Amino acid sequence: MVVVGSFNLDHVWSTSRFPVPGETRLGSFTCGPGGKGFNQAIASVRQGAPTHFIAAIGSDAIGDGAAALATTEGLQAHWQRCPTQATGTAAIVLDGQGQNLIVVGPGANAALSVEHVQAQAAVLRGARVLLTQHEVDPLATRCAHALARAAGVLVIHNPAPPVDATAQPALDGIDLITPNETEFAQLLRDHAGHDIAAAYLVQQEEPILHRLCRDLGVPTVIVTLGADGVFVSQANGYTRIAAEAVNVRDTTGAGDAFNGALAAALAGGQPLLDAVAQANRVAGLKVERHGAALAMPTRAEVRERFATA
Ligand code: RIB
Ligand code: NA
Repeated sequence: MVVVGSFNLDHVWSTSRFPVPGETRLGSFTCGPGGKGFNQAIASVRQGAPTHFIAAIGSDAIGDGAAALATTEGLQAHWQRCPTQATGTAAIVLDGQGQNLIVVGPGANAALSVEHVQAQAAVLRGARVLLTQHEVDPLATRCAHALARAAGVLVIHNPAPPVDATAQPALDGIDLITPNETEFAQLLRDHAGHDIAAAYLVQQEEPILHRLCRDLGVPTVIVTLGADGVFVSQANGYTRIAAEAVNVRDTTGAGDAFNGALAAALAGGQPLLDAVAQANRVAGLKVERHGAALAMPTRAEVRERFATA
């Protein structure tokens, strides 16, 4: 499994409810590793999949910490060190319900270069699965898609966070895409000419959701709907897989847990619906814990929590 994506140091403020504009609230603070790419890579390696991570960090202490942690976790990391950019950071506010607000300062992630991705061509071509997101330079992502695709590697794209159409990779280079409802609405607007708000989208009947998925032209579309589970659409049909019943503490990185675990399971040869069910369990256990990368559960922890094989 190969992830091309971001590393951020997450700065997390917890408070019982979100402040409104102009308001100051007291709360508590912690720091920890994150970034959608890194979270997904950690989720994958903790599921037992040999995992490569291609990313850019600064030539700073936070970058050194990222590199050391990747080694400890058993990730095979291929870092681009940027002397002129700081390692990425994120400011996260968490409320008492486990909801979050996030602002990302991409820093070095935005400088991940096509040259650096090309230099990892052998890793990309040798993979079973490539997994990407929207937190690095889209040119680097497009380059990874092209290299993987030409070698017959399964390309999974998690279109998070929402970005302008010009910053998105072409959908025709993608085998499997995993939007949440907001990202699905945006993809439909940008790539299929449908103007449907996310709130209306999730109220649609399943055959209509399926037809909308088909309009994206991506072979497999998996719409993650939080507590409403996961909608899976392929050319030959669709199904919905229920979410696990969990005690929500922190939804940060839930999508990353899902994507990393999904990619790991598919790289391990599991059938799609089994891989989705496993990814749901991994995401379910993640939301019961505080944090991002370090909150990703291991395979053994998932087995124990949900009493599955
Ligand atoms: O998906 C969660 C992640 O989004 C956080 O770790 C933060 O770094 C942002 O990238
Ligand atoms: Na997320």
